[in-house]
Amino acid sequence: MPASTQRPPRFLQACRGEAADRTPIWLMRQAGRYMAEYRALRAKHSMLEVIRTPELAAEITLQPINAFDLDAAIIFSDILPPLTGMGLDLEFVKGHGPRLNNPIRSTYAIDVLATPPAAESMGGTLDAIRLVKPELEARGVPLIGFAGAPFTLASYAIEGGGSKTYAQTKTMMYTEPAAWKRLMNKLVTVVADLLAEQARAGVDVLQVFDSWAGALGRLDYIRYVQPYNRVLYQRLEKIGLPVINFSTGTAAYLDAVAEAGGDVVGVDWRLPLDAAWSRIGPGRAIMGNLDPVTLFAPWRELRHHVADVLQRAAGRPGHIFNLGHGILPETPVDAVRRLVDYVHEQTAVGAVEEV
Ligand code: CP3
Repeated sequence: MPASTQRPPRFLQACRGEAADRTPIWLMRQAGRYMAEYRALRAKHSMLEVIRTPELAAEITLQPINAFDLDAAIIFSDILPPLTGMGLDLEFVKGHGPRLNNPIRSTYAIDVLATPPAAESMGGTLDAIRLVKPELEARGVPLIGFAGAPFTLASYAIEGGGSKTYAQTKTMMYTEPAAWKRLMNKLVTVVADLLAEQARAGVDVLQVFDSWAGALGRLDYIRYVQPYNRVLYQRLEKIGLPVINFSTGTAAYLDAVAEAGGDVVGVDWRLPLDAAWSRIGPGRAIMGNLDPVTLFAPWRELRHHVADVLQRAAGRPGHIFNLGHGILPETPVDAVRRLVDYVHEQTAVGAVEEV
């Protein structure tokens, strides 16, 4: 156990690009519906209730840590609740996902968005961090704090939910560039403050989720998103914790995504890990990049995919094993356990099995 030795936890070593005794692994959305313990708790409490009640959020944060040999915990929350403090009415609709009932449809709606301090609007999550941290520290497991990236949050705020085309978001961006700038700057302020407060509350690493940045072409990413992400990562650098810059669907401009900042770049499965790493640059750590759907495959197929990721990482320091996007609700628990143990086994002696 890392706690009983002098070594820092392997996840923190990998975030800093340092060699670790094994490849660390955690899974995005590791606390969630694929676990019976989670479903049992959610049957009694709504999503927002869970997020706003520190005892419940702390309990769910620990569920995957109790079940699997994971190298990091992520605080149970969501990227969308900070939008409620800005004046948007968020609801998690059963069987449908998140919905903002008063989406932004005018430049006026952007002007009236509030930017309250996170200590006021996200107190439940900050208290959950304070509550769960000592428990994790005792087990030698670092805690990740997180927030949505400005573009991904803007897309929810404007579309009112998920979208296939992001037509309203892009139309706002193209038609009202000055208002877009005000919106993105407000989101940078809110996200930077939230992450700084999470750091003060005790998290060890910060992750920024730009899940839907891949909706953009290279030109638009560089013009309408990258400048704000750059400012955000510059502010986060001052906090002094490792920062993970995660996005999906951005293979066509991964260099530009990485250039925006962050110590670790999270990548999806669309590029092989070694190709992604060379685009990110050798000096950076990388997180990824197993397709979450491979967890539904028979073990021989899943193992083949896992081994491929490990072979491409080739034992280089600075690889954090993860999925390329969040774990899916119906994922078999046995496949998760097998994956986590296999990554540790295969990287323990430096020998990667040929499959
Ligand atoms: O374990 C963890 O990773 C921590 C918790 C976490 C949740 N959401 C809990 C959640 C994290 C890190 C998130 C991030 C998040 N939320 C993202 C970025 C990551 C990604 O997957 O792209 C996004 C885009 C959201 C927005 C969101 N929240 C959607 C689209 C949905 C509905 C679809 C879905 O995946 O369920 C949610 C709800 C949500 N957030 C659930 C959980 C466990 C499901 C709630 C339930 O029905 O119990």
